Amino acid sequence: MSKSLPYSRIVGTGSFLPPRVVTNDALAADMATRQIETSDQWIADRTGIRQRYLAEPGVKTSALATEAARRALADAGVDASEVDLIILATSTPDFIFPSTACLVQANLGNKGAAAFDVMAVCSGFVYALTTADCFIRAGRARCALVIGAEVFSSILDWNDRGTCVLFGDGAGAVVLRASDTPGILAAQLQADGSLAGILSTAGTVAYGQVTGDPFLRMDGQAVFKQAVTVLDRSARGVVAEAGVSLADVDWLIPHQANLRILTFLARKLGVPLEKVVITVDIHANTSAASVPLALDLARRDGRVKSGQLVLLQGVGGGFTWGSVLVKM
Ligand code: UT7
Repeated sequence: MSKSLPYSRIVGTGSFLPPRVVTNDALAADMATRQIETSDQWIADRTGIRQRYLAEPGVKTSALATEAARRALADAGVDASEVDLIILATSTPDFIFPSTACLVQANLGNKGAAAFDVMAVCSGFVYALTTADCFIRAGRARCALVIGAEVFSSILDWNDRGTCVLFGDGAGAVVLRASDTPGILAAQLQADGSLAGILSTAGTVAYGQVTGDPFLRMDGQAVFKQAVTVLDRSARGVVAEAGVSLADVDWLIPHQANLRILTFLARKLGVPLEKVVITVDIHANTSAASVPLALDLARRDGRVKSGQLVLLQGVGGGFTWGSVLVKM
């Protein structure tokens, strides 16, 4: 291996959404056929969500991830053969094994890169990005593909109005390269497994059948309170570690679960809402994909620019959370 460089830097981003857009009205009309009552007004007022993208039944996470990865590689001008590490965050893998990262690797035609999945639910992307940064800084990799991808619609109970209206499908990816100038400035990952029960999909396939509950279950209010508390603490921790202040951060890109969470968080941190990238209205909650989807969108529409400081934050099942401060 050639001389290791001391930092890692994001050199490209990409994302992919399945083509089918489902508005709140369309979802409410569909649920009404099963005698389940919801409305655009309830969903928009309580969550800020107006629509979500849903994969057709049978479309797998690897398909969305592969397209997002191709776009990130093209954006970076990096050939798939140059990648020596693929980390994919998902809680809706195609299979128990092989990992979805290996399936994406095969789709891209890459051979030889280390490839594995990270399971940290809605914190998955910040966990994966931090892991890739550690590999690069340790000289164990030079060019990493970091992906967050989900077909969350596959684990939703479409008869549970308290959860099924909240989520969507999608994928986002970044290319992270060894660099002699700092890109990832600081990162903090945390978890509290004693809170596993407030957000879980506790079923599994064993002994030839599904055992346990195969659908996502959530204590929404408990998750809401935890999310605001830990994201606030984590944001403060990571900027302190980097020796900067919250006022220096150009863009806050938290996990997109609920517009009310984003509003509370911004207020607690004293960050103006104009500096928060918001996609929950159009993407809904795409779990591990939400942060890289939002980052890619904000780069493409010209908000996030080279040289700016961006604070990426995840929070979700486990209970897990984390923050990564990035100089773009
Ligand atoms: O990515 C992981 C992170 N996830 C999150 O961060 C989610 C965090 N939690 C939340 O976003 C919110 O707690 C929810 C959006 C899930 C729920 O909002 P809420 O303001 O906490 O509502 P609630 O659960 O207290 O429910 C209020 C009412 C209930 O009716 P009653 O008991 O007051 O008669 C629910 O049955 O709203 C009812 N309700 C609905 N009504 C219409 C729940 N879901 C729906 C629905 N449509 N889809």
